[in-house]
Amino acid sequence: MTAGASNAFVFFGATGDLARKQIFPALHAMVAAGELDVPVVGVAHSGWSVDDLRSRARESVLENGGEDDQHLESLLGLLRYVDGDYRDATTFDALKEALDGATRPAHYLAIPPSLFGTVVDGLQSANLHDDARVIVEKPFGRDLASAIELDAVVARAFTEDEIFRIDHYLGKDEIMNLLYFRFANSFLEPVWNRHHVDHVEITLAEDFGIEGRGAFYESAGALRDVIENHVFQIVALLAMDPPAYQGYDAVQRAKESVFRSMRPLTRDDLVRGQFVGYRDEPGVASDSDVETFAAVRLFIDSWRWSGVPWLLRTGKNLAAKAGEVRVYFKRPPQVLFDDAEADSESNYFRFRLSPVSEIALAARVKTPGEEFQGTQRELLIHTESTHERAPYERLLAGAMAGDRALFTAGGSVEAAWRVVDDVLTDHEPAIPYEIGTWGPPEADRLAADFGGWHPLDPDAKSSPTASPKEN
Ligand code: BG6
Repeated sequence: MTAGASNAFVFFGATGDLARKQIFPALHAMVAAGELDVPVVGVAHSGWSVDDLRSRARESVLENGGEDDQHLESLLGLLRYVDGDYRDATTFDALKEALDGATRPAHYLAIPPSLFGTVVDGLQSANLHDDARVIVEKPFGRDLASAIELDAVVARAFTEDEIFRIDHYLGKDEIMNLLYFRFANSFLEPVWNRHHVDHVEITLAEDFGIEGRGAFYESAGALRDVIENHVFQIVALLAMDPPAYQGYDAVQRAKESVFRSMRPLTRDDLVRGQFVGYRDEPGVASDSDVETFAAVRLFIDSWRWSGVPWLLRTGKNLAAKAGEVRVYFKRPPQVLFDDAEADSESNYFRFRLSPVSEIALAARVKTPGEEFQGTQRELLIHTESTHERAPYERLLAGAMAGDRALFTAGGSVEAAWRVVDDVLTDHEPAIPYEIGTWGPPEADRLAADFGGWHPLDPDAKSSPTASPKEN
């Protein structure tokens, strides 16, 4: 059992892409916030020196909008580097030396999961695991069996409360706000269930492709890369019962019940797509069937959500970069006014997650002057994002402090894999779609009972009047 703050930060994969894009900028921000003043040891097998690593850190911070300031100098001063093969015991001896007696390091495995076992064993043999923490990236495994196996590997040296599984969505303000908004208000709870909610739509769309990550993407696909983790986390926060208190255990327990109540997906619940041109990307097989788009119909078999469809979709090279949740309510039981045609859009709650942060409630209001004629309009809360803390800064600072609030528990990860496990292999072929569209039109089948998927406003400004459904 680990308590207290970590007194060193070790990151394996220090010369890699994740370090460049996320870790150095986060460490820089942590130094600036006064949250990091301990040795930072990069480990890799690249033939680099500590000066190479310092140059990379400087480049990375500047590329990501950081300043060349005294905090950057302090970060460079904290940096140490160990070069070596992870299979070699001398690499871990050198790491021990670089740690210079730090007894409670946090080890971040920014490396492919296939190397986790080797590194964990190396840490254990050098006794660098005792009293330490380990931070691992999503996706944790690539199916249920490999997730269980990976868990067993990490558990050889670390207890559950020493393991910090990253899903960076949990470090985003807009996602944290789902938990806050649901349970800091009293008006939502009475209607947040199958009696009032008709269906829920969640879209995480991106207007860019795989950005040179062909090799990674070939082993992942949209279902593994985004649905099983980021989207399911959003579902869990929206669907969970109230936690008994704000702490990690209570929130995790409530979320885990949602994952466990998700009905495993069948072939019919999934439409897979692939953008035209994907097969020409470097690292991608010329006959690849990997999906760059996935649309899913999910049911949560719980007292609260029984019978309510959750429609989820994500994809690369779509028409917009946008994240949005819509919770549609059932229609009034009786049609009193002739203007409310049966196929007009019902009331909804809308959570815009990106690129702006908005919460809206759509309701029908009478148009002035007309006899009982109206339109659906939105009551809108628009929050200016200050982007004060990037998710990785928040998450790494949390892990260093031993605060697990923004991390995922092993039980939830396993339960989430169980939901998608069958359809990872048992599915229809990916359907080609043109770049800049909303994916293959076949995905409309899943939303057919609701008049199709709701189109997202690509400009993501507030939409004062609710818009019609896409068909
Ligand atoms: C990552 C995925 O986990 O999340 C990427 O691997 C995806 O493919 C990214 O683009 C989306 O994150 P964000 O924060 O840009 O919405």
